[in-house]
Amino acid sequence: MLKKIASGIVNLRGQDFKINVLKKDLIKKKKNLILAEVHGSDKLKKLNWFLKGYVIIDVFSRTEHLKNKKKINRYLANILKIKKKKVFDIINYHHFINDKNHLEIVKQTRNLEPQIFDSIKKKIFSKISNEYKISFEKNKNLEKEIAILRLNRPGGIKDLNPPHRDGYLNYWAKSLNIWYMISGSFNSCSLPIVPKSHLYNEKYLTVTKPGCFMNGIKYNVPTILKITGKKKIFFKVPKLKPGQVLVFSPFLIHGFGYNFSKKKTRSALEFRPVVS
Ligand SMILES: [Fe+2]
Repeated sequence: MLKKIASGIVNLRGQDFKINVLKKDLIKKKKNLILAEVHGSDKLKKLNWFLKGYVIIDVFSRTEHLKNKKKINRYLANILKIKKKKVFDIINYHHFINDKNHLEIVKQTRNLEPQIFDSIKKKIFSKISNEYKISFEKNKNLEKEIAILRLNRPGGIKDLNPPHRDGYLNYWAKSLNIWYMISGSFNSCSLPIVPKSHLYNEKYLTVTKPGCFMNGIKYNVPTILKITGKKKIFFKVPKLKPGQVLVFSPFLIHGFGYNFSKKKTRSALEFRPVVS
């Protein structure tokens, strides 16, 4: 028997992408509430960028950024078991991998000990803390703190997440999303976001349950298929400079990070500390 499909359209840089989910996975009764208001961190609500849902901050100089990138190059070269570690550049990651071993690598890089990148993490955290007078604490809902090294190969349609909000998974609701781009086309292929979407009422969103399929791939986080009143989910792809960090509410709709670049792997370090 054919499974019934529900479809939506994502628009990135003027290009449409169709997304399909199984109709049976959609949540039927949608709540009439704004999750970021009810479950988000009260500290975030007081910040000057809260209405926009995101902010871009300068953290590292270009020299510092290159140093960070070198560190990450070495780390990934180790995982990939590359012999000439000194010449490996994460931007060329896609030349060293096929679809099957990419999935194996991603299993390792999405659950890293943040201590590996301690100096990077410390500088980003302290910059945010000083700028916005907030502090961070351990996530009590998780066994251990994690960091993610996100890898998106050029044109890798299997390398991306669905449009989503991390805050749908309740252990991220009080956190802050920190996205530090390491390599790729900084001008045109950073992380797609929907500005102000953290304040969308749940009743206007068509969403799957967690652990369902989008375009045939299973994801932990629920897929946001449609926004009522909009023909497509229109994403903004912020322009970043090397060394800048994108910071956003865990309820901001983001994802579908298609890498338009033909030559460069996009990579980013992600942290999600709890705001206190
Ligand atoms: Fe996310």
